[in-house]
Amino acid sequence: MNKAVKRVLIAESDIEGKLKELGEKISRCYGDEEVVVISILKGALVFTADLIRRLECDVVLDSMMVSSYGSGTYSSGKIKIVQDCREDLKGRNVLVVDDIIDTGNTLAQLCEFLKTREPKSLRTCVFLDKPSRRTVEYTPDFSGYEIPDAFVIGYGLDYDGKYRQLPYVAEIKEEFVK
Ligand code: PRP
Repeated sequence: MNKAVKRVLIAESDIEGKLKELGEKISRCYGDEEVVVISILKGALVFTADLIRRLECDVVLDSMMVSSYGSGTYSSGKIKIVQDCREDLKGRNVLVVDDIIDTGNTLAQLCEFLKTREPKSLRTCVFLDKPSRRTVEYTPDFSGYEIPDAFVIGYGLDYDGKYRQLPYVAEIKEEFVK
């Protein structure tokens, strides 16, 4: 166990089952159609890599980098597109994949931005949802787990750039938070 971990919220063995469930739901949703999966870096990298391997539809992988947080645990409320995707989204199915939805700012604003590219469909999938933190009304189309308002690390989620590699989701010990 990593020394910064207070308690594990979602074990590695549970994640496997959740990926299968989400993979089946999403595959059913798109059927024989192709989907452009946009992974929101960096947090969604681990989840996206696991999720796309459970999809049966044709997947074209792309990514974007959006900034919403600084290095701490606050949210600035306004997103910035740091790196855009490369695919032309017009007339295509687009699935935005993120590791967590918190205030809802990132996905709500990003979807507004992506709609201007005129996709055929635009859906979102998150691994974690903290509904108690929402400041913007937004519900992802696909969601893995609802979690309480704790600062979590692992499975792509960082604190100060670290702990993304942990194969589980855990609460961080207070003494490791600056
Ligand atoms: C995190 C997370 C989401 C966003 C969610 O990204 O990956 O994109 O915050 O928060 P919101 O619902 O309050 O907008 P972060 O900016 O920490 O970057 P990272 O993905 O590189 O860790």
